[in-house]
Order: sequence, then C-alpha cells, then structure tokens
Amino acid sequence: MAAAALAGLLVALAAATAGATTESSDAAALGNLYTSWNSPPQLAGWSAGGGGDPCGAGWQGVSCTGSGVTEIKLPGTGLNGSLGYELSNLFSLKTLDLSNNQIQGSIPYQLPPNLTYLNLATNNFSGNLPYSISNMAAIEYLNLSHNSLAQQIGDLFGNLSSLSELDVSFNKLTGDLPTSIGSLSNISSLYMQNNQLTGSVNVLSGLGLTTLNIANNNFSGWIPKEFSSIPDVMKLIPEWTCSSTTTFHATTP
Ligand SMILES: *[C@@H]1O[C@H](CO)[C@@H](O)[C@H](O)[C@H]1NC(C)=O
Ligand SMILES: *[C@@H]1O[C@H](CO)[C@@H](O)[C@H](O)[C@H]1NC(C)=O
Ligand SMILES: *[C@@H]1O[C@H](CO)[C@@H](O)[C@H](O)[C@H]1NC(C)=O
Ligand SMILES: *[C@@H]1O[C@H](CO)[C@@H](O)[C@H](O)[C@H]1NC(C)=O
Ligand SMILES: *[C@@H]1O[C@H](CO)[C@@H](O)[C@H](O)[C@H]1NC(C)=O
Ligand SMILES: *[C@@H]1O[C@H](CO)[C@@H](O)[C@H](O)[C@H]1NC(C)=O
Ligand SMILES: *[C@@H]1O[C@H](CO)[C@@H](O)[C@H](O)[C@H]1NC(C)=O
Repeated sequence: MAAAALAGLLVALAAATAGATTESSDAAALGNLYTSWNSPPQLAGWSAGGGGDPCGAGWQGVSCTGSGVTEIKLPGTGLNGSLGYELSNLFSLKTLDLSNNQIQGSIPYQLPPNLTYLNLATNNFSGNLPYSISNMAAIEYLNLSHNSLAQQIGDLFGNLSSLSELDVSFNKLTGDLPTSIGSLSNISSLYMQNNQLTGSVNVLSGLGLTTLNIANNNFSGWIPKEFSSIPDVMKLIPEWTCSSTTTFHATTP
C-alpha cells in the first residue's frame, strides 16, 4: 500500500516536472521568435518549436507571472532576422525590449495587444508604422528611434490615452503630422527629430509636453507660442535659430 502510494506520488511529481509551466500559445510564440532570429545560440535556454518551457526553464530575458510571459528584455544581444508572425498571441506580455540589435524587415502588423512598454530602437526596421499600434491602448512607452522607418505617419494615436513617451527620431518618416497626434492626452515627451516630416506643427500646441524635439525635419510655418512654455525648450533652440535649414519663424523671442 505504502509503496504503491509512493510510486503514485513519484509518477505525479515526474508528470509535474515534465509538464511545461508556460502557456502553450506563449511558448509557441517565443519558439517562432527564436526561429525568426535565425536561432541565436547566445540566448541561454531558448529553443525553437513549441515544446519549450520559457517560464519553467528560465529562458534568458524572459519573465513570467504564473504561466504567462509578461516581459521579454533582450537589448544588445546580437539578434538579427525578423520579428516573425506570432507576437499577437502574447496576451500577457507587458514589456518588450529588443533595442540595439540588427533585426530587420517590417514591424509586423501583429503586435502583442496589451503592451505597456515597446522598445525596438536601434535596429534596422523598414516600412511604415503599423496600424496595429493604434490598438495597443495600454501602451505608455514607445521607442522606434534609429531605424529606417519611412512613409507618412498614419492616424494611429486616437486611443493611446496612456502614452507618455513617444520616440520616432532618426528615421525616414515623411508627410504631415496626423491630426490624431493631438489627442495624446497623457504625452509628456515627444521626439521626432531627424526625419523628413513636413507641414505645420500646430497640432502639437495643445499637448502637455515637458520635452519636445522636432529638429532636422522639413516643417514649415510658425512655431506655436505655446511651445515657449515647454520646460525643456532647449531642444527647440537649434530649430528656432538655424533658419538656413528650416522655414521656421518664431512668434516669441
Ligand atoms: C544572424 O544571427 C545568427 C544567430 O545568432 C548568426 O549565426 C548569423 O551569423 C547572423 N547573421 C548575420 C548576417 O549577422
Ligand atoms: C489582452 O488583450 C486581449 C485582446 O485585445 C484581451 O482580450 C485581454 O483581456 C487582454 N488581457 C489583459 C490581461 O489585459
Ligand atoms: C530611445 O532609444 C534611443 C536608443 O537607445 C535612446 O537614445 C533614447 O533616449 C530613447 N528614447 C526615450 C524617450 O527613452
Ligand atoms: C538594413 O536593411 C536594408 C534592407 O532593408 C539593407 O539594405 C541594409 O544593408 C541593412 N543595414 C544594416 C546596417 O544591416
Ligand atoms: C478606438 O477604440 C474604439 C473602441 O474600442 C474603436 O471602435 C475605434 O476604432 C478605435 N480607434 C482607433 C483609431 O483605433
Ligand atoms: C500618464 O503618464 C504617467 C507618466 O508620465 C503615468 O504615471 C500615468 O499612469 C499615466 N496616466 C494614464 C491615465 O495612463
Ligand atoms: C527637406 O528639405 C531638404 C533641404 O531643404 C530637401 O533637400 C528635401 O528634399 C526636403 N524633403 C522633403 C520630403 O520635403
């Protein structure tokens, strides 16, 4: 009897050890990422396929709450390849930091829907800003700077009421600013410098910004007088004075 009970316990323990603790759709999405990055051997614990256990086996840069993957932080880890196509299954993911790698291709239309922090800065992404950004209603920090993103910025910002820091600087973005950027009710820092943006910046005048950098673009017209109340106005001064490269005129000295 006792031996049978002990054997049963051992079987139960073995099953618990063998059974992955990670949500299977999260495990599959991370396996797809690993393949999309050309199976980087430098990532401790990571493996391809859906059979791995990122939470239970402690994959490098991965944090979990219960069985859900909540954070992937792999900045500067020598990643290349692309972002794959299964990111939208990562429902628990809040933080995704893949900055300072060599990942290329488009930023996929399918992004994790519940992110609060997305940092893809300093990679080699091309294409435009995907429309899926407009659905990430919880996003607070979005850094896409230092890539090769191009084309006009779409009307992506209507529902992003939590976004407080937006950095799209050092890309190849063109066209006029979308009107929905004026509805970023919680924005405090906005970096758009070093693109080829055109038209008026008036749409920014009602935002509660503490930091704004719009230098080295092709904006035209007048600088709204509201900008003079932005505390970190230093970032504007080069734009304001380098009249040889811009068509700006200051309304206040
Ligand atoms: C891309 O990453 C893989 C895995 O780390 C590596 O083997 C390969 O050399 C890298 N390719 C380039 C072009 O850097
Ligand atoms: C995450 O997003 C999905 C789809 O948008 C939603 O159904 C789910 O409730 C969200 N989960 C959390 C934890 O916010
Ligand atoms: C975005 O990332 C770049 C490159 O890592 C960094 O220099 C910049 O400070 C970041 N922007 C914000 C708003 O944190
Ligand atoms: C970035 O990607 C483009 C293709 O989109 C490629 O031509 C270029 O060589 C890449 N640059 C780097 C630094 O990898
Ligand atoms: C904002 O959210 C509402 C409700 O979820 C949706 O109907 C609308 O299409 C969204 N707008 C944008 C610009 O995504
Ligand atoms: C607004 O942004 C601040 C950080 O600047 C953050 O602490 C706060 O939670 C945000 N508010 C909303 C409603 O998202
Ligand atoms: C921006 O201005 C520069 C210099 O004035 C000019 O060469 C370039 O064609 C302009 N780009 C756009 C998109 O208007």
